[in-house]
Amino acid sequence: MKKLIIEGGRELSGSVRIGGAKNSAVALIPATILTKGKCVIRNVPDISDVKILLEMMHELGSKITYKDEILTVDNKNVENVAISEEYASKIRASYYFMGALLGKFHHAEMSCPGGCVIGSRPIDFHIDAFKRMGAHIVENGGNYKMDAAELQGRDIFFDFPSVGATINVMFAAVLAKGKTRIINAAREPEIANVASFLNSMGARIMGAGSGTIEIDGVKELGNGEVDVIPDRIEAGTYLIIGALLGRDFKITDIVEEHIYSLISKLKDAGCNLKVEGDVITINKTKNLKAVNIKTTVYPGFPTDLGQPMSTFLTQCEGESSFEETIYENRLRHIPHLNNMGADIKAFDKTALIRGRTPLVGRKVKATDLRAGASMLVAGMIADGTTIVYNIEHLLRGYEKIVDKLNNVGANIRLIDE
Ligand code: EPU
Repeated sequence: MKKLIIEGGRELSGSVRIGGAKNSAVALIPATILTKGKCVIRNVPDISDVKILLEMMHELGSKITYKDEILTVDNKNVENVAISEEYASKIRASYYFMGALLGKFHHAEMSCPGGCVIGSRPIDFHIDAFKRMGAHIVENGGNYKMDAAELQGRDIFFDFPSVGATINVMFAAVLAKGKTRIINAAREPEIANVASFLNSMGARIMGAGSGTIEIDGVKELGNGEVDVIPDRIEAGTYLIIGALLGRDFKITDIVEEHIYSLISKLKDAGCNLKVEGDVITINKTKNLKAVNIKTTVYPGFPTDLGQPMSTFLTQCEGESSFEETIYENRLRHIPHLNNMGADIKAFDKTALIRGRTPLVGRKVKATDLRAGASMLVAGMIADGTTIVYNIEHLLRGYEKIVDKLNNVGANIRLIDE
């Protein structure tokens, strides 16, 4: 079990570099299954979700090197073995093996994907789309067996623009017969990143990043390369930290457009920030004002930043609201914030946050990945020492976060016991 011990109240100055996006990397790695060519993926973040995926690729027979954030993958000898429950349950992104194996081998076997406990996370859009494209799928106690004589391009409409289902249908469609159209596709920047990787291999994907994606199936794919885009959620988390503790604090390798929803809310709250190309300078601001946040799909306010943002809102004068619309259960961190001195009332998927309340160091728990980020920010602004348990969740998605923060003045220890 890992925990963080945080001494609060330290100002931060200097610069932090944003790493590659977790939610791109976890799709780009399984994408390599679709080709026998060699692949190079640069700017791959050193996080535990990536390590688990690399182990899964190794099980399939993939030859991989990973050094200085550059991943080279040779899948010439990959075999289509069943993905064990042990692996599938560790990580949500294991669902990408379904689309990639089905697309490449017309056969996939694995159990339900795991991931953060933030409400029910069905995969019915993925399964329905594979079926529509010609797959025969049998589910038995959470284990899926998928077979297709061939996959046929189809029109696929999603009731909701799901990130995972959009990428999985791209995987199933790139080698399918004919044209696939995804209507009401997710528009998150990670989708375009994955499409540009597949196109570098010779796939024909048009419109990724918009609500309609068209894919003309090709016979085979060749070598591929890509740079993982900067992680907009990591960037947003450091912006929130900078707004509370920065003193000439710079965040580099940031794409302003990807995180505009947060920047706009921080400005509304009165934050002092300056954008120069891919660098944002942000400083601690006094007299922050309450703002209302409603999470939604890109380019709206990201669900993955709602929890760290709720910690920020405890430091704003007046009543703010935080409404989660994507997942059922993203408020499990609220009792821990209240335990540290926050004044938050949670109803169903909405929290009313009355500020400004000073926070004090306490023993708290990271109930999931982004709840961990919320607790980290709370500990850093609290008076005294905060201990955050279950910090494995945080390490799944934030690259070298303790080193990055200590290098700019934080006092955080990661204890492995
Ligand atoms: N949904 C369905 N059926 C489906 C798929 C999704 O009902 O078949 C619903 C979900 O229940 C949810 C909504 O659609 O209410 C959105 O889910 P989506 O499929 O977009 O999410 P995801 O692909 O499972 C990815 C990220 C999440 C991020 C969301 C939204 C990965 C591995 N995960 O999840 O990241 O919150 O998109 O942007 O890419 C995180 O990083 O902390 C995280 C949870």
